[in-house]
Amino acid sequence: MVKVCVLGAFGGIGQPLSLLLKINPHIDELSLYDLNDCHGISKDLSHINTKSTTSGFDKNTLKDALQGSNIVVIPAGMARKEGMTRDDLFKVNANIIKTLCLHIGQTCSENVKVLIISNPVNCLVPVAIETFRKLGKLHPENIMGITTLDIVRAETFLREHLRELNNDDIDPLDHDVISVVGGHSGTTIVPIIPDKNIIKLLGSSRYKQLVHRIQFGGDEVIKAKKSSGSATLSMAYAASEFISTILLSMTHGTGICSKEQKYRYLPAYVYLPGLKNGAQLKRHLKQVAHLDVNYFAVPLKFKNGSISELDPTILTKLSQEEIELLRAAMEPLQINIKKGEKFVQNTA
Ligand code: NAD
Ligand code: LMR
Repeated sequence: MVKVCVLGAFGGIGQPLSLLLKINPHIDELSLYDLNDCHGISKDLSHINTKSTTSGFDKNTLKDALQGSNIVVIPAGMARKEGMTRDDLFKVNANIIKTLCLHIGQTCSENVKVLIISNPVNCLVPVAIETFRKLGKLHPENIMGITTLDIVRAETFLREHLRELNNDDIDPLDHDVISVVGGHSGTTIVPIIPDKNIIKLLGSSRYKQLVHRIQFGGDEVIKAKKSSGSATLSMAYAASEFISTILLSMTHGTGICSKEQKYRYLPAYVYLPGLKNGAQLKRHLKQVAHLDVNYFAVPLKFKNGSISELDPTILTKLSQEEIELLRAAMEPLQINIKKGEKFVQNTA
């Protein structure tokens, strides 16, 4: 029996994500929680004829919502409007993530997977890790920041360029055509194209455009929505894809994402120390970027729903442009990470 709990289920991401989870055949029970009462959303979804059951909760029943969950996904919190940075969300959302993680730690089993969507992801995953550490219940293999939207965008935008070049030999959804590592904001987002012939094929101007769009895709959506909010539908899709890979590994043992019969490993933003190949990745980062960090988005392999290892090869085949992107990412990433860690260390 697999139970998935959505914290922030009433919101712009929460509602379409809950719909996608309701139609996922690997979920038996869906639990929907928000400060806004989720009974109505739950009733609506419960009429869909898939096998899972749904329950809605309100702000007084968080414990009941969490009880027995295998996966808790968190899109709770404030979203950006035009003119805001993800950093502007920190104060409000760090409090939300800390409070929710305290409840998860007190209510759920130590094997629960905690998936963070709320921004700034670069800071809030450290907030979650430090909160679980304080509780004495830290399992880094089960805590992830969802950065799948970056890879979804990278694949989409690369496809658009390849179409314009009349190239249909390369399918961006093939394993390893494009990956995205680093963090989830601006220049901390680092696209990597292992086959450097593809970078040559794109040419310098297209390549720069592609990188910029992947790094600042979130701003594009906010602008188009005319200040009503940020990406919700594409994010719900991305989170649903990521959760599917975890569910596949829970039901089939391995964690691969199946797309049109093609397979690839999805990255997520994770705490490197304590994860298999984490030390190796930190060494590579130090070698290539002259700095290292404890948190980094990197392609993952799963076993039974938990991270089993990180892809150690991802930083070994970099072009000069990619090395420069990586170097530019490190300092802002370090600042973001420290901010998240300090927040928990300095609060009761
Ligand atoms: P939204 O405002 O539409 O929804 C947020 C929901 O969270 C609301 O329903 C609100 O009531 C709820 N909420 C607030 N505090 C809560 C709490 N303590 N417990 C439970 N629920 C609570 O926002 P949205 O567009 O759904 O975005 C949500 C978050 O996801 C934002 O921080 C946004 O920046 C982030 N986001 C991340 C990515 C990513 O790639 N990781 C992509 C898009 C958006
Ligand atoms: C995104 O990349 O779309 C999200 O992180 C939301 C945002 O604030 O841009």
